[in-house]
Amino acid sequence: MHKYFFVLGSNPNLSKVEILAFFGETEDLKIITSSKEVLILETAQEINPHDLIVKLGGTIKVGEIVDSLAPGDFTEQFPSLATDINFLSKLFDPQLQKITFGISVYNAGTTTNQINSILREATRTLPKMKKFLQTSYRASFFKPQERSISSVSVVKNKLLTEGFELAIFIEEQTILFGKTLAVQNFEDYSFRDYQRPGRDAEAGMLPPKLAKIMINIAGKDINDTLLDPFCGNGTILQELILLGYKNIIGTDFKSEQIEKTNQNIDWLFQQYQDLVKSDFNIKTFTYDVRKLNQTFKEEGIDAIITEPFLGSPKSKHFNIPQIENEIKILEKLYLDAFYQFKNILKKNGKIVIIFPAFKFGNTLHYLNILPQLFKLGFSPLNFQENSKYKDLNLEVSERGSIIYSRPDQTIHREIFIFQQD
Ligand SMILES: C[S@@+](CC[C@H](N)C(=O)[O-])C[C@H]1O[C@@H](n2cnc3c(N)ncnc32)[C@H](O)[C@@H]1O
Repeated sequence: MHKYFFVLGSNPNLSKVEILAFFGETEDLKIITSSKEVLILETAQEINPHDLIVKLGGTIKVGEIVDSLAPGDFTEQFPSLATDINFLSKLFDPQLQKITFGISVYNAGTTTNQINSILREATRTLPKMKKFLQTSYRASFFKPQERSISSVSVVKNKLLTEGFELAIFIEEQTILFGKTLAVQNFEDYSFRDYQRPGRDAEAGMLPPKLAKIMINIAGKDINDTLLDPFCGNGTILQELILLGYKNIIGTDFKSEQIEKTNQNIDWLFQQYQDLVKSDFNIKTFTYDVRKLNQTFKEEGIDAIITEPFLGSPKSKHFNIPQIENEIKILEKLYLDAFYQFKNILKKNGKIVIIFPAFKFGNTLHYLNILPQLFKLGFSPLNFQENSKYKDLNLEVSERGSIIYSRPDQTIHREIFIFQQD
């Protein structure tokens, strides 16, 4: 059995759902720890950390658990463990001549006091580890400003290729030690986000990482047909291509948006030379979502992954009556869209979709169309009640959805997975 850790991205709830979707219906998967910072799993399946970190949009670091201690033993035993070659040889390649190392401390479900005391002890041990390693190697350590080393610093200091990162996960009853195997390619995401030719902040820009998470949580096969009917600049289509999905359709009612999508797709194939365009069947059309069933044959789509129109950018400054009015307009658009989805989606088809939720004061104002969607035969997955996710300690909205937002945002994104009855 292997124990793997996943350091979670800015929305830990979505990150965890995405990781479980990756493992699918594997019987032997056991959740060891699920906190806001980390998910630790036990499985017989061996993972390729380098492939996995590219596939997952919501994971920052992947690694393997190599040892553990009881919290009460840490102060006494960690200094000797950290200078024990049997322990250290689990973390790096002994053939190396030069070693740069670092320690990150993560909260895996304990108190701030305990975290701080372990962090103090771990930091105090760094010079001792260096001195010990210097007997055989040219050794140095990287000391972060925070209690964990950012993926940028892990890469810049070559910790994975010319040294190691020891990740310490503190649970209430156990301390787990992990070796980081791969970190998220932060440069690649911002390159895709900011360098592509067709950008349009007005129409709303879906972060590529969120697009990838949405695709992954749909859990569809790479040969299935996937549609984004509000494709905008084509962020979801780009991520589908990168994940290897072969049959992709994008539609939008503005021809300028379809032009930008096409430009971005061409750019993607130029930049990522190992992708061959002729391996893919990609179609883009200018269509209003309300007319989709006139275009696509019945029940031909396996999944719809989409971020529709989230409302006027001015809605940031709306008062309650204005928000209510905006919600009414959007409810109509979303309902119209679902009526169309009903006709074109296969029976076991899925919809991963973003609804806007407007924050006013401390209250979120939602689109209230769930009863109508239910009647239409679409039920949203309740992330908290679903047996697959029940041990993940997910924080969900009062309607069982996951909210994605940044601290300064008024329009929150509400993530749903709908299935047809
Ligand atoms: C929030 S943007 C989608 C952003 C996209 N995910 C991206 O990152 O580029 C919403 C898109 O929906 C399109 N749209 C709005 N109403 C539509 C309708 N009735 N039918 C089709 N597309 C529509 C807009 O033109 C816009 O491009």
